[in-house]
Amino acid sequence: MSSALDPAGTDAQHIAELFQWMAIGAAVIWVAAMAFLIYCLRAPAPRPATSQMAGQASRARRLIAGGGVVLPTLVLAGLVGNALPPIAGLVDGPAPEGALRVQVAGEQWWWRVRYPGLDGAGVDVANELRLPRGRRAHLELSSDNVIHAFWVPSIAGKIDMVPGRTTYLTLEPTRAGTFRGVCAEYCGTSHARMTFQVVVVEADEFDAWLDASGAPAKTPSSAAGQAGAAAFQASGCGSCHTVRGTPATGTIGPDLTHVAARHSPGGSPVAASSGELTAWLRSPQHLKPGALMPPFAALGEARLGALTSYLRELQ
Ligand code: CUA
Repeated sequence: MSSALDPAGTDAQHIAELFQWMAIGAAVIWVAAMAFLIYCLRAPAPRPATSQMAGQASRARRLIAGGGVVLPTLVLAGLVGNALPPIAGLVDGPAPEGALRVQVAGEQWWWRVRYPGLDGAGVDVANELRLPRGRRAHLELSSDNVIHAFWVPSIAGKIDMVPGRTTYLTLEPTRAGTFRGVCAEYCGTSHARMTFQVVVVEADEFDAWLDASGAPAKTPSSAAGQAGAAAFQASGCGSCHTVRGTPATGTIGPDLTHVAARHSPGGSPVAASSGELTAWLRSPQHLKPGALMPPFAALGEARLGALTSYLRELQ
């Protein structure tokens, strides 16, 4: 689903080509080294000193100098010369003109994604990065806890998210689709479950999504959803989560305004199905050990079911 060797972004394309050249260079050296090994194993054993010795010694010296110094120097110089221009392009400068600005923060263990608006407001989502195809996106990456690393192998290289500083990554998806992103730096117990999805869509579809995501939450229409909304407020969920248009304005956990529109609301391993959402609410530690979200099994199954209905209506 997401491989650095199946690029869907311009930077990933450069990296894949670089890898191919490195692999070819390594193969050439390996074949040459094996050829020399076979030659040495099959060569006749050295005889006692004869008049031919001087000639053989000078041939051996030429071979060592050629195969041991000149050949590796040429191959490595060629590989480095080939690698430097794309690497220079991957090291990030200022945001390119017309680029989409996105702020991504690493949390333990989820991804806070914000599309800053012109008026200071913005659209907050979590564990999902939606990007328009064919447009540069300038990511501002940060962390206020430990070091994480942002990596979407299909689209671009990886970059660390270091507490106390902002790092930048510009990427340009070239193919629509859903791609897997991971945290590439060990960051604690649930590091391996700190995954996210990059959804690449056409520009007009992206604009429509951003507009819809900026709207306040829908009021639940079903009785179960309404009971869930009441349980959400009564249980204090709003002190950690925001649901725009309601009294819930917490910022410790993910913004849930349109949580049901996301592919994977809780990030791996929680998917959008009712069963998994209820299991998550009942015991988040079971699915994501070490998560800050407390277990809500004490609410009872009826209220957990209502909460699940409410969350699933937050489209
Ligand atoms: Cu975050 Cu590993």
